[in-house]
Amino acid sequence: MKFFVDTADVNEIRELNDLGLVDGVTTNPSLILKSGGKIAEVTKQICDIVSGPVSAEVAATEYSEMMKEANALAKIADNVCIKVPLTLDGLKACKAIRSDGRLVNVTLCFSANQALLAAKAGATFISPFVGRLDDMGIDGMDLISEIRTIYDNYGFQTEILAASIRTVNHVKQAALIGADVITAPPATLKALVKHPLTDKGLEQFLADWKKTGQTIG
Ligand code: E4P
Repeated sequence: MKFFVDTADVNEIRELNDLGLVDGVTTNPSLILKSGGKIAEVTKQICDIVSGPVSAEVAATEYSEMMKEANALAKIADNVCIKVPLTLDGLKACKAIRSDGRLVNVTLCFSANQALLAAKAGATFISPFVGRLDDMGIDGMDLISEIRTIYDNYGFQTEILAASIRTVNHVKQAALIGADVITAPPATLKALVKHPLTDKGLEQFLADWKKTGQTIG
């Protein structure tokens, strides 16, 4: 399973990349706003750190405007993955951008039928938003399961990028179902390492080691 980090915070990306935890990055207009930077500059900085796909989202909603923005974003770096919304114009743009040989992430997916359309448009990644479904009282993981089944039934190559991941349990569930990628905020990725028994065990080992009076090396 690939780990993408869902942020436009360059320092956080650098820190996680140094840990070997970053296979790619996803941004969106809200994350660019939070970063306080300009999309072209922030995306370039991220692409200089990370060699995997870096999703940068178009802001236009009409096909020809989306294509103009996609072309501008594609010029930033070779690993920019163009993110388009799950609309008819977005799907048309997906097909066109893919035929130019670029990566496309189709975002804001909330149903299995939407994911089916994205696969048929040749999307590189489909981004079902787990947390936002959970917020509405719908189990977002059921959507990941449905898409996995549908894609496997027909051999679609589109990768399932479980998005809007909010908890460590989301990461585990997505992995059990077989999502290809998760994208999660830095804090969630870092929280994966935590277990109280690890802390307790380490504390005991360190205390006992001190009693031996030994040093290593
Ligand atoms: C994915 O590409 C989105 O940027 C992101 O996962 C949305 O997450 P949120 O629902 O927590 O905003």
